[in-house]
Amino acid sequence: MIPFSPPRIDQASIDAVSEVLRSGWITTGPKTKEFERQLAAYTGAGRVFCCNSNTNGMELFLRWLGIGPGDEVIVPAYTYCATANVVMHLGATPVMVDVLDDFTIDPQGVAAAVTGQTKAIIPVDLAGLPVHYDQLWEIIQDKKSLYSPNSESQNQFGRIALVSDSAHSIGARYKDEILGSQADAMVFSFHAVKNLTTAEGGGICFNLGDEFNLEEVYTWLNTRSLHGQSKDALAKTAAGNWEYDVVEAGWKCNMTDLQAALGLVELHRYHDETLPKRKAIALAYQDAFSVNPHVREPLLADSERESSYHIYPIRIACEDRAKRDEVIKRIMARDVSVNVHYKPLPLLSAYSSSYSIEDYPKTKLIWQQEISLPIYYDLSDSDLERVIEAVELSVDEVLT
Ligand SMILES: Cc1ncc(COP(=O)(O)O)c(C=O)c1O
Repeated sequence: MIPFSPPRIDQASIDAVSEVLRSGWITTGPKTKEFERQLAAYTGAGRVFCCNSNTNGMELFLRWLGIGPGDEVIVPAYTYCATANVVMHLGATPVMVDVLDDFTIDPQGVAAAVTGQTKAIIPVDLAGLPVHYDQLWEIIQDKKSLYSPNSESQNQFGRIALVSDSAHSIGARYKDEILGSQADAMVFSFHAVKNLTTAEGGGICFNLGDEFNLEEVYTWLNTRSLHGQSKDALAKTAAGNWEYDVVEAGWKCNMTDLQAALGLVELHRYHDETLPKRKAIALAYQDAFSVNPHVREPLLADSERESSYHIYPIRIACEDRAKRDEVIKRIMARDVSVNVHYKPLPLLSAYSSSYSIEDYPKTKLIWQQEISLPIYYDLSDSDLERVIEAVELSVDEVLT
């Protein structure tokens, strides 16, 4: 069976993790700090804070923003549940907006959804394609007069915050720049299936105006990721340094040095090895499917944006979920693993009583048509050919 998205684990990954295992320090420490520094250099972000997942990274940042009951946060209806779950955890209301044909949030829908309660927008660089950042910034400027802050940091912001769910998009480009500095915060995921993995992990790139002290914000996030403890475990090991305070009942979502060691190996080879390989696979799929009338290829780049090639999502020419499911069954029967990204939020039990899929026609259409194909560093040319053949045979059987 051709797998869907296995991680690239080689001797370099094993050596790096082994070195940390032998070092006597395996939780948050020097490797995590080094990974944060190198991520900031790669992404151009003002500062980076790493934790145990994109989900907890987004949630921590929203907590720092003081988002809570009564606040609204705009999210796409077409995304993974984490984007909206973090808003729910804070007692705020996710306001869902439809997407464009390219799977990214529709700026016009965002503009229409802003109210006096809107405190943040969480767009998603879905599949790795950056959202329309400039258009979202214009909306935030246009709607400034509606904004009514109710926390200290919201007051300092003086406008809606742009907190990008960049789980898929490390290494993607917007206007020729690698993503990391295009929003107030851009939160990457280093989950096992992601382009750059630490097994589990997340990185918040934050870019705040001069009115904020980035080191203070970093300390706030770091402290709250460790129960609100005023010293981390490494600092406490220094002679006579055992005593600490807890400044607020915090959370526990720190990144470990084992994870960061893996991340450092992944980051070193990301630009020159991982991304070009992913791009080559995506372009080979584009070539093959561009001549197939039943398969619509995804948008990978336009004049402003270039994907990170995280997910390769084709759309089958049908308006009937059953046909898409039948195509999947037949592809899998040919020993090729595929996936669907995503079942839209309004169709999930956690959200279906408050949101209707009929309000999000593009989301509904894309979901009925979408199939994600294998894309990963170790996919061989012959396996790539097998995937293409399995997709084409299966699609032809079902649609002709
Ligand atoms: C769009 C999106 N957002 C958020 C997440 C959550 O990432 P993590 O598993 O690092 O919390 C994922 C994970 O798949 C995702 O696809």
